[in-house]
Amino acid sequence: MKNSSRRGFMGKAFGAVAGVGAVASLYAMKKTWDPLPSVKAAGFTTLDMSAYEGNKLVTEKWRGKPVFVLKYTPDMVKKAESDPKMKARSIKVGNDYYMITLGLCTHLGCIPSYDADDHSFLCACHGGTYDFSGDVTKAPPPRGLDIPPFKIDGMKVVLGEEGPEYKKMLQDGVTLAV
Ligand code: FES
Repeated sequence: MKNSSRRGFMGKAFGAVAGVGAVASLYAMKKTWDPLPSVKAAGFTTLDMSAYEGNKLVTEKWRGKPVFVLKYTPDMVKKAESDPKMKARSIKVGNDYYMITLGLCTHLGCIPSYDADDHSFLCACHGGTYDFSGDVTKAPPPRGLDIPPFKIDGMKVVLGEEGPEYKKMLQDGVTLAV
């Protein structure tokens, strides 16, 4: 009797532990299946542009380097459209505009931080600033944040491929080749 109630208790305890384990592994599996905003493969990073939110900076990775992705809000679109330099740096995918740049200051390579209230970047190393399109607004950075090679493919952007929009930016001197 004593033995059988102990078995009963052990059985329940084991069942509870197994249950927790099963939930944990289901959670891990779900995380694996959930779509990611970016997928990396052999020098290319594919970004799903529908996964980004307005004025929320996301740092992706391309060839080991940080890449800033910032989707514009309607107010930011208005501002960028009224400024030819900002417009030239902005990337239109579907009906939305984005900043996609390397997240490395063009002065000495520090990582600037984004102030979402001011819509600007500050590089704390030597006080350089950039607007939300990545154009430099205060020295010492010698130029705006560099734009990595990109190709627009529907609502996706492939970093590492040179599409016509990127080639035009290079031709117009909007960015240097990286
Ligand atoms: Fe950014 Fe010097 S490294 S201002």
